[in-house]
Amino acid sequence: MASLSARALAALIVGWRDLANGPAYAALADRVRLLILDGRVALGTRLPAERELAAQLGLSRTTVSAAYADLRDSGYLDSVRGSGSVARLPARGGVVPDVLVTDQLDFSKAVLPAHPAVAEAAQRAVAALPSFLDESGFDPYGMRLARQAIADRYAARGLPTDADEVLITVGAQHGIVLLAHTLLSRGDRAIIESPSYPHAVEALRSAGARVVTVPVTPAEGWDESALEQAFQRTSPVLAYLMPDNHNPTGATMPKAQRERIVALAAEQGTTLIADETIGGLELDGQAVQPPFATLGRAVMLGSLGKSVWGGLRIGWMRADRELIQRVARNRFMTDLGTPILEQLILVELLADLDRILDDRRAYLRASRDHLARRLAADLPTWQMPSVAGGIAAWVNIGLPISSQLALAARNEGLVIAAGARFGVEGLFERFIRIPFTYPPEVIDRGVDALAAAWRSVTRTPLSVTDGDYAQVV
Ligand SMILES: Cc1ncc(COP(=O)(O)O)c(C=O)c1O
Repeated sequence: MASLSARALAALIVGWRDLANGPAYAALADRVRLLILDGRVALGTRLPAERELAAQLGLSRTTVSAAYADLRDSGYLDSVRGSGSVARLPARGGVVPDVLVTDQLDFSKAVLPAHPAVAEAAQRAVAALPSFLDESGFDPYGMRLARQAIADRYAARGLPTDADEVLITVGAQHGIVLLAHTLLSRGDRAIIESPSYPHAVEALRSAGARVVTVPVTPAEGWDESALEQAFQRTSPVLAYLMPDNHNPTGATMPKAQRERIVALAAEQGTTLIADETIGGLELDGQAVQPPFATLGRAVMLGSLGKSVWGGLRIGWMRADRELIQRVARNRFMTDLGTPILEQLILVELLADLDRILDDRRAYLRASRDHLARRLAADLPTWQMPSVAGGIAAWVNIGLPISSQLALAARNEGLVIAAGARFGVEGLFERFIRIPFTYPPEVIDRGVDALAAAWRSVTRTPLSVTDGDYAQVV
């Protein structure tokens, strides 16, 4: 059973007391509840013993006991004999509303509704299905037809590709997990960006990686010297990057930097993974970069999940044949192949993808601009960066209280991930990711809820000094 030390938990709840109006035990319970709800503390994790947490936080044992009792009563902790207090979720109808059991507006996901082309493609795929019904339908690599269609698309983008260099997955997340478990052994170093896409970090850690972070900001992009040091000092086994419309900052990596990273990776024998799930969503008419692997050795990950529809659950990877074969063998541990009908839908959609991406860019541009106008009007102290690509804005809220804001937003009917969900060990309390994948009227409801939550958390003046937040970016 995984356990969390008192020190690690204290880092995750930095600033927990600053804006609390009520009793300390309730504020502590609220912050731990948020960690469990948004996945920063995995279910089944053992929390620190009350005495240790009290000492770490400089609290009385009674306060921590009361917080744990509150969490137990609301269904977020189990007291297991011999194992201490273990994180869990309440059964349906728990005291604190949970996104799983209410109809709250959910901004924790940056997702678009399906493009109308999906339904049409599905009809054509159903019509094509009978020709494949004589086959077994099990193939860890994917249908040749689908692999060829992906290979052709890479070739059209300037990266000659053979169908044998492609494997069809059940979404890009599946690809990340397969690569992590194929390439990593316990204790290996893996580079990730900071902030990063949280489920990628979870996948790398589940394969035993020790993650090494490299900062990315909306304005400056990737920290060049941190990148260089991370490669040279840690010789990582892999580096997982989102060079095209990085999630959550929306940054796009310049070509010269890509070239330097390819060289650094080659020097250290690092496998680069370039996740293009959010690629193709450049919003201001700028040129879409050719695939990362045109510059040197890199595994490419792709998906229709963000650009077309998440409900399709289909993605792919492109790598050299040997790695594709290793991944296909490992795949049997978890599944036996991607559904045939979804692969046929993929093939239909790829033929239409450029038109779909045009539509998506226009839609996202309008929603992004609407969000920028609403934030400027209603939350003028927040800084929304200019976002040239992707699906969300990484907004600086000016104070290190993103977790409190996310908690307060729940009371206003909005579920949103605190900035710290995208960092490791409590970073990014000054940020929140706001998706602009929703139409203007939904964005309006979200901003109304955020503005109300902001009023409620900032009613008490902040007494902290910046020095208290040395580790918060
Ligand atoms: C960067 C990135 N990669 C992968 C995924 C997961 O993609 P899929 O839905 O294809 O599994 C996401 C989804 O949020 C993402 O943001």
